Amino acid sequence: MMVYLNGKLIDETAACISFDDRGFLFADGVYEVVHIYSRQFFEWDRHMARLQRSLEGIYLPHVDNDELTQGALTLLDRFDGDEGMLYLQITRGVHPRSHAFPPQDVAPTILMWIRPHQSFSAETIQQGVSVITVADDRWAKVWIKTIGLLPNVLAKEKAHKLGVFDAVFVRDGMVTEATSANIFIVRQGVLQTHPVTNYILPGITREVVLELARDRQMPISLEPFSVEEMYLAEEVFLTGTTTEILPVTQVDNKRIGTQAGGVSVSLLEALRQRAYSVS
Ligand code: PDD
Repeated sequence: MMVYLNGKLIDETAACISFDDRGFLFADGVYEVVHIYSRQFFEWDRHMARLQRSLEGIYLPHVDNDELTQGALTLLDRFDGDEGMLYLQITRGVHPRSHAFPPQDVAPTILMWIRPHQSFSAETIQQGVSVITVADDRWAKVWIKTIGLLPNVLAKEKAHKLGVFDAVFVRDGMVTEATSANIFIVRQGVLQTHPVTNYILPGITREVVLELARDRQMPISLEPFSVEEMYLAEEVFLTGTTTEILPVTQVDNKRIGTQAGGVSVSLLEALRQRAYSVS
C-alpha cells in the first residue's frame, strides 16, 4: 500500500515517523476519516472545513487544503477498489520532547492512507446492534477531532468485553454520542440528537442525516435526551463515516422498539442513494 507522508507518496514499508513526533508523544494532532463511495470522497469540503476548525482548536498553523486535496486525489488514483476509507492525520511535527509548542518553523507531520472498507451487512443492519452506556469522562473540547482517543478506546473495549458492539457516553444524565459515532433516537415520531456543543463531535454524517430528515419533513429536535428517554425510544441509531447509519436494538440489556427501525433503515437508503448519486 502507498501512503502519503509530508508531500510524498511512498510505500507503507518505507514510511517512517520519528519517536519525537508530537503525535506519538503527546497525541498532539488531529485527524479526519472520509468515506469513499464509487471512488469519490463523500462530503470532502465539509471534512476539510472541520479539519481546519480542529487545527484552529489546537493552534496548529494553517495547513493548505489544496495540498491535502491533491495528496488525497493522488492516493485515490493508486487505490484499486470502489469503496474505501481515507485516514488523514496532522500532528504538530517532530521536536525533542517538551510540553511547550516547538518553534514555528517545525513543520507539521501530514499522513494519509486509503484502505478498503466493507459496510455492515444487510443482516447486521436488520438485526441492529447492542450498546452499553458509560460515563462521558472525556475533556471539554470534544468538538476537536483529536487523535487523543484514549477514553473512546477504553469505552469501546469495555463494550467488547461485555460482548456488545459499542458504548454510548452519558454526561450529567444526558446522552452525548458513541465512541466513534453520533447517536439519534426516534421518540413519538420525532428524530432527536444532541445539539452541537463542546461535548460532541459535530459529525458530518449527523449533518447529512438531519438534511435528509428535513427533506422528508420529519420533525426534528436538537435537545439533549436522557438515558431513560433513550430506553423508551421507538428507535435508536448511530451515525458516522464508517458506521453510516446503524440501528441499535438493545441498550444496557434493554430491548429498544421491536426490531431495527423503519426510520433508520429508510434514512440509510437515502444516505446511500445520495452518496452514490453524488459519486
Ligand atoms: N469517527 N463522534 C465521534 C467521537 C467520532 O469519532 C466520529 C467519527 C463521529 C461521527 O462523525 P462523522 O460522521 O463525521 O464521521 C462522532 C471516525 C469515523 C473515526 O474515529 O474513525
